[in-house]
Amino acid sequence: MNHFEYGPEGLACEGVSLAHIAAEVGTPVYVYSRATLERHFTVFRDALELAGVAAPLIAYAVKANSNVAVLKVLGDLGAGADTVSEGEVRRALSAGIPADRIVFSGVGKARREIQFALQVGVAEINVESEPELNLIAEVAAELGVRAKVAFRVNPDVAAGGHAKIATGKAENKFGVSFAEAARLYANASNNAALEPIGVACHIGSQITDLAPMRAAFSKMRGLVEQLLAEGLSVERLDLGGGLGVPYFNHPEPPSPADFATMVGEVTAGLPVRLAFEPGRVIAANAGVLVSEVIHVHERPEGRKFLVIDAAMNDLVRPAMYDAFHDIRPLVKRDGEAVYDVVGPVCETGDTFTRDRPMPPLAAGDLVAFMSAGAYGAAMASEYNTRPLVPEVLVDGDRFAVIRARPTYDAMLARDLVPDWV
Ligand code: LLP
Repeated sequence: MNHFEYGPEGLACEGVSLAHIAAEVGTPVYVYSRATLERHFTVFRDALELAGVAAPLIAYAVKANSNVAVLKVLGDLGAGADTVSEGEVRRALSAGIPADRIVFSGVGKARREIQFALQVGVAEINVESEPELNLIAEVAAELGVRAKVAFRVNPDVAAGGHAKIATGKAENKFGVSFAEAARLYANASNNAALEPIGVACHIGSQITDLAPMRAAFSKMRGLVEQLLAEGLSVERLDLGGGLGVPYFNHPEPPSPADFATMVGEVTAGLPVRLAFEPGRVIAANAGVLVSEVIHVHERPEGRKFLVIDAAMNDLVRPAMYDAFHDIRPLVKRDGEAVYDVVGPVCETGDTFTRDRPMPPLAAGDLVAFMSAGAYGAAMASEYNTRPLVPEVLVDGDRFAVIRARPTYDAMLARDLVPDWV
């Protein structure tokens, strides 16, 4: 459920009409609903509790939507943060999420990033390879600290989703094999600079079928049992993120309750604390991208292009993954026309959808891309020197700009022209 509904002034986010925000802030603009973010987090947490999962760490995947205000809303509810760069760790800390709720993942953590993570004392560094383990041990020894590490295992399970976001097959760059994990875990437990605390997996994103997750989690359970039987200490099992959301053209994904029931079954009686890294399921349906129609360009042979002021640099998912986003006019209309919806960027790939039946629209009309709260603004760029799209957070009847659109002066001031040019 989300809080984007049609009201007397058209499509609204909670108590504020999106047209009002567009008039105040301009378009394109991302708009997030605080109530929806909070609801998604609490539904996820409560489902786990109901399924008998005791005190899990729910480390929200910062990459999905990394705005500090969004992180603060979730952190204040008790969320931790799953991070993949020093920048994301800094964002989580600046949102008030304590280091002991921060997980640091990623295949290529640089030495200085590891230093930073150890200095601030993150809860868990997820190790993705043997050379990375060696680097972490070296940096921890230099700093005179013990690094809490968990081993990210690649469970070699295929998990739906688009090929560019599937991560759990042995051919993908992520994680170590089960055999390597067991060997590295034992080695690490003999290294004074390392404190192995657990194992982790993450098999992909936008997963709409629980079967591959169940298969991967069962294998992870087996690994925990094996390590415990070897007399090693295992405190944590991190099951990653990946639960899919409805994008309206997809099969209905499993609910958080179905997911939690499955997790409860697979992990019953296992003496470890579970961690989760949900991103999309928290943020996707808590946000929309509002855009204005610039022209309707009709070709003589009949194809109609809806040229809008948002582009692939603002929302790259359709161009990058052929992703589907529902596109709704802010004011409901009768009738139907078939459009190719395109942005102003000079690439054919800047096409949000082709042959989409929609209500008839005209220049100046406003539309909303639904389910754009995850991997939307976070993946935006300034390609074509288009200002980075601003973000707005709504809370009941009030709203605030939580990232301002940069001015052209600020954008140009970042370029430095040496005096010898
Ligand atoms: N944990 C790890 C280690 C991850 O790599 C990811 C996502 C997550 C958690 C969160 O997954 P989620 O719950 O959001 O599915 N840009 C793509 C999605 C890339 C996901 C990358 N990793 C998209 O727009 O569909």
